Amino acid sequence: MIAPIRWERHRLLLLDQRLLPVEERMREYTRWRDVADAIRTLVVRGAPAIGCAAAFGVVLAARQSAAPDGYGLVADLEEAMKGLAATRPTAVNLFWALDRMRGVAEAHRALPVPALRERLLGEAQAILDEDLAGNKALGAHGAALVPEGARILTHCNAGALATAGYGTALGVIRTAHEHGRVALVWVDETRPVMQGSRLTAWEMVKEGIPHRLIADVAAGFVMKQGEVDLVIVGADRIAANGDTANKIGTYSVAVLAQHHNIPFYVAAPLSTIDPSIPSGAAIPIEERGGDEVRRIGDRQTAPAETPVYNPAFDVTPAELIAGIITERGVFRFPYSFR
Ligand code: MRU
Repeated sequence: MIAPIRWERHRLLLLDQRLLPVEERMREYTRWRDVADAIRTLVVRGAPAIGCAAAFGVVLAARQSAAPDGYGLVADLEEAMKGLAATRPTAVNLFWALDRMRGVAEAHRALPVPALRERLLGEAQAILDEDLAGNKALGAHGAALVPEGARILTHCNAGALATAGYGTALGVIRTAHEHGRVALVWVDETRPVMQGSRLTAWEMVKEGIPHRLIADVAAGFVMKQGEVDLVIVGADRIAANGDTANKIGTYSVAVLAQHHNIPFYVAAPLSTIDPSIPSGAAIPIEERGGDEVRRIGDRQTAPAETPVYNPAFDVTPAELIAGIITERGVFRFPYSFR
């Protein structure tokens, strides 16, 4: 099993996803600020994985604090929670996980420091364990939508690497593959950070799932040739009306899928739904540095002075989504998650 996030001997271990597919290296973390850096710099990425890592960041902050009692400890945690929350704005799982950690800290602030630290560790581990169980449940719900001999297109990486270790879109694909239903997975390379070619293709190779990599710009042509039966992607934040933020390029894939009459599904845990946001228009979209677009790896592919617009996510309107697959079942348009 791919385990990108582990807690071992008072340390957080993260698989450095920036080095994949060339090198598999686990990094050790003992300070919350380093975990915040790891989230910002994409050592760990993917909405549920960011939430899990941040929860353990709070555990580390509690270990770093010299507060004499629970009340002081809870006050110390605020700085870490703010720092962790400031890393990436779009994936709601980050804020959801921090809220859970804050809730536990506040509910148990009267405990002695060692007991409060244990509670926080228990909560972070629960967030990780629940994500894994939720992914397996949504994988089963989603696999029922996958026809025999399916050719599935996916964008970005919504796999084990992006979660506690099973995956959302790739969780559905894993389960459907176990049932012998997957003929082929079309993997969009996902410019500019290449989560498709570097991470999804790596997971497909590890699992022995038949796949084929395409440049993002090839998706429309492949659909037109009748080679795609359904699309499954993950999500970073789902608004109350079902509008879904996911990796940049997802919206284009959804429009193409509609044009070609191909069902377009989103797979995500309930922790990705943000009921406080009425529609996609209010979802904050992260903008990343221009060099992600001006360069491919070490190679410069545009003049250094060329201005760049680099939104990391886009929003797919709910009406383009055939179903949202969660651990509680498949929701259909018009979306209501109550
Ligand atoms: O910038 P990233 O790599 O964190 O973006 C990840 C995605 O957009 C994923 O599709 C999404 O988080 C779902 S992960 C189960």
